[in-house]
Amino acid sequence: MILPIYLYGHPVLRTPTQLVTPDYPGLAELIANMKETMYASDGIGIAAPQVGVSLRLVYIDVDVLSEDLPELKDVRMVLINPEITIDESVPTTSREEGCLSVPGIHESVARHEKIHLKWTDENWQTHEQDFEGYLARVIQHECDHLFQTVFVDRISPIRKQLVRAKLNNIVKGNVNCSYRTRAYTKTKR
Ligand code: NI
Repeated sequence: MILPIYLYGHPVLRTPTQLVTPDYPGLAELIANMKETMYASDGIGIAAPQVGVSLRLVYIDVDVLSEDLPELKDVRMVLINPEITIDESVPTTSREEGCLSVPGIHESVARHEKIHLKWTDENWQTHEQDFEGYLARVIQHECDHLFQTVFVDRISPIRKQLVRAKLNNIVKGNVNCSYRTRAYTKTKR
């Protein structure tokens, strides 16, 4: 089932998330719905808070980018309770990001080039691995959602000022996008 994407300004994006337990009711269905919702909105990553669920759960599929970045071929990951460790001495690089919850805004964000990640997959197997480059960026962006952070929180104050009017429109639900959304405050049409 395709779920609505909760937009910037909705309190669910600022709500602390719970750890997922193996007996969480409907977990497999929630994962399936997140995948379907992400593909329907042409995203490369989605976090549970973006579909209104305050859980530490992420789905990533970056295969669509593999024409330019061959290392991303067939990279699809369910991340349950992911934990990122960052060595602060690892350099950052800046690159443009967007987000299904912030339609129409693309801004440069500095991210660490390399991360260490521990996570559980949908078969409840635990993993631990280093990631770098674009995939490390996507993982950082999605895991930010689990800790009440949206990428526009990480842009420079000047850039934030420049997109303020657009952000205000997103908060009000004045967006024009191809997928279903849910805003906190709705304006009369
Ligand atoms: Ni996002």
